[in-house]
Amino acid sequence: MQFFNKDDVLNAFHYRASTRSYDGTKKISDEDFRYILELGRLSPSSVGSEPWQFLVLQNADIRQKIKPYCWGIPTMETASHLVVILAKKNARYDSPYFAEIMSRRGLESEAKAKALAIYQKFQEQDIAILDSERSLFDWASKQTYIALANMMTGAAMIGVDSCPIEGFDYQKVNEILAKSGLFDPSEWAVSVMVTFGYRDKEIRKKARKDFEEVVKFVE
Ligand SMILES: Cc1cc2nc3c(=O)[nH]c(=O)nc-3n(C[C@H](O)[C@H](O)[C@H](O)COP(=O)(O)O)c2cc1C
Repeated sequence: MQFFNKDDVLNAFHYRASTRSYDGTKKISDEDFRYILELGRLSPSSVGSEPWQFLVLQNADIRQKIKPYCWGIPTMETASHLVVILAKKNARYDSPYFAEIMSRRGLESEAKAKALAIYQKFQEQDIAILDSERSLFDWASKQTYIALANMMTGAAMIGVDSCPIEGFDYQKVNEILAKSGLFDPSEWAVSVMVTFGYRDKEIRKKARKDFEEVVKFVE
């Protein structure tokens, strides 16, 4: 089944550009914003772990509090929406978090045990992420970037602009948001942020490496 023609999709990819200057008078409708969040929720994740939460940060005071810790040209006042994507801190195969994911799949206990044994080998040996809390968090964080990309591309498809933000002081931003009661810092931490809105001026055409430089066909 083909949902879109290639030109439309490519046009959206060309149109999407990291937007550092929004028209602060334009707000994304609730319907459009729910659509963007739905693209995040429906995103794929390793072993179906879905180790994310999407904080839609519309509170002006909290946005102001984190602004000094974001480098570049923060658009905390003008972005229509700011999403802070949290990643799960302890998404180990043997954690209560994983147990819950497994039970949501409705597996029998034998099938559950089999799946968990595979995930154990995967996390312990294959991808080897159990040696530090940081490795485990980064694995969860990787998954959130898939949701990030899907939301930004899907937004561009309906003419909504965005800018991913990982240029910020993680310690400070985590501290501010956790102290504001937005999440439990023993369970979650900020992975990446993203603003959405409408550009207020044209954005210079993107520079990319040539196709031949980045693609290698192995016959
Ligand atoms: C994961 C990620 C984090 C980024 N963080 C920031 C950021 O903190 N501030 C910023 O202005 N741009 C940020 N960018 C935007 C990049 O600079 C931009 O994607 C790149 O220069 C290519 O330009 P384009 O997005 O317009 O195609 C980020 C991009 C990605 C993918």
